[in-house]
Amino acid sequence: MFTNIAEISKTKKGISNLKKFSIISYGCQMNVSDSEVVASILENIGYSYSDDLNNSDLILLNTCSIREKAELTVRKKLESINSIKKNNKNLKVGVLGCMAERLKDKFLIEEKIVDLVVGPDAYRDIPNLLKEIEDGNDAVNVLLSKEETYADINPSRFNTNGINAFVSITRGCDNMCTFCIVPFTRGRERSRDPKTILNEINELVENGYKEITLLGQNVDSYLWYGGGLKKDYIKASKIQKQTSINFSKLLELVAKSFPNTRIRFTTSNPQDMDDDVLYTMAKYSNICNHIHLPVQSGSDEILNKMNRKHTVFEYLNLIKKIKRILPDCSISQDMITGFPDETEDDHLATLNLMDNVKYDFGFMFKYSERPGTLAARKLNDNVPEEIKKRRLSEIIDLQLKHSFENLSKYVGKKVEVLIEKESKKSDNHWAGRNPQNIIVVFPKKNFLRGEYATVKIINHTSTTLIGEVIIA
Ligand code: SAH
Ligand code: F3S
Repeated sequence: MFTNIAEISKTKKGISNLKKFSIISYGCQMNVSDSEVVASILENIGYSYSDDLNNSDLILLNTCSIREKAELTVRKKLESINSIKKNNKNLKVGVLGCMAERLKDKFLIEEKIVDLVVGPDAYRDIPNLLKEIEDGNDAVNVLLSKEETYADINPSRFNTNGINAFVSITRGCDNMCTFCIVPFTRGRERSRDPKTILNEINELVENGYKEITLLGQNVDSYLWYGGGLKKDYIKASKIQKQTSINFSKLLELVAKSFPNTRIRFTTSNPQDMDDDVLYTMAKYSNICNHIHLPVQSGSDEILNKMNRKHTVFEYLNLIKKIKRILPDCSISQDMITGFPDETEDDHLATLNLMDNVKYDFGFMFKYSERPGTLAARKLNDNVPEEIKKRRLSEIIDLQLKHSFENLSKYVGKKVEVLIEKESKKSDNHWAGRNPQNIIVVFPKKNFLRGEYATVKIINHTSTTLIGEVIIA
């Protein structure tokens, strides 16, 4: 199946002139990771990666549907690609990911914008779909799967810095938060075979990667019992249950197997995070002390309407536990403002929760109604845009204040930085992150990218620590 298309591209263009593909990823890290899987599938059939859209035979957009704005960005890009298409009649354009899943054949059939529409579980079918296009047929596959984890595919890191890599451990989500499109576009939750996770990390480490982020919509819900959906675990046999591997066990396996590699994970869901994960983090110094713990709102009423499965009290207890077990752990949030029926009191409760936790950083969004979600079907998007905007700027301002205060505590202290890239503002400075996931900028001296530096912090903004290197 793979060789067929390789043959086509070889005979048409000659081996030295392979077909070229470009992929642009939008949205979450999972899309970046998926694009690497797609790149590997395409390379297997003789395509080679190009970052020059004007010089590509195939342009793929790996899309995001999480908010309306994300979809508008993709639509704008498609318009600009259409003008490239006018000058290159052979160019094929594909839409992958969540928008492909959400809008299905609307793109191809009704709007006649793209040649290829592939949902997140159907990437293995891309070689066949490309053949369908060559034969003049429509090419749509948006089937969601119960098993697909792409476990055996070694992602092609086509756009890498050679230092940080993402490794997917779960796909899909079963949580059904009422605002969220992800369960509809990415399907039911399933976990990846731990052996294949360890193999992938092993290869990355052998190739010099220094930091691995384990990736999933809800990593704490990871559960391997020989394959199958998370929701079918109750039907598993006794032996499957006894030998099953949950997230804390996986995290331990990874940390123990790669003691010189920094390990991160994202995203944690408060309802599923158990104490064992925190104790495992405390036990292994190579697991970075940062937890991204989205809460969305500080009001119990809103949390309930969002179908989040915890109260503010329970969430605060979890925060207390994190601070007790991991005193120097940073905590970040996702917050949605202007959810249906959110009152001024609900908003004040969110500000109050933030004052309580004092997050290190966060990602804050205005509620965006997504068609088909429970919130869209049952609730009115009734908070006026002006109020959403004002509340959003209030939570952003408060977050910036907390970030600034938290970062000031590092001044005078030494931190360990993994050097990732040149500072955006100065080519005499390196930028990297400390274990708490805070960006640190410092003079280059004789250090190289990919090395660790011990840096003394001398100043800070609300997002960045500024330091000087300590020569040992
Ligand atoms: N568990 C996932 C969450 C994915 S969505 C993860 O890996 O991060 C990321 C964030 O987008 C959510 O935490 C939420 O804060 C925000 N979000 C999701 N749906 C949204 C919507 N309809 N409107 C505004 N923000 C939304
Ligand atoms: Fe979305 Fe909630 Fe899952 S935010 S990805 S449904 S945990």
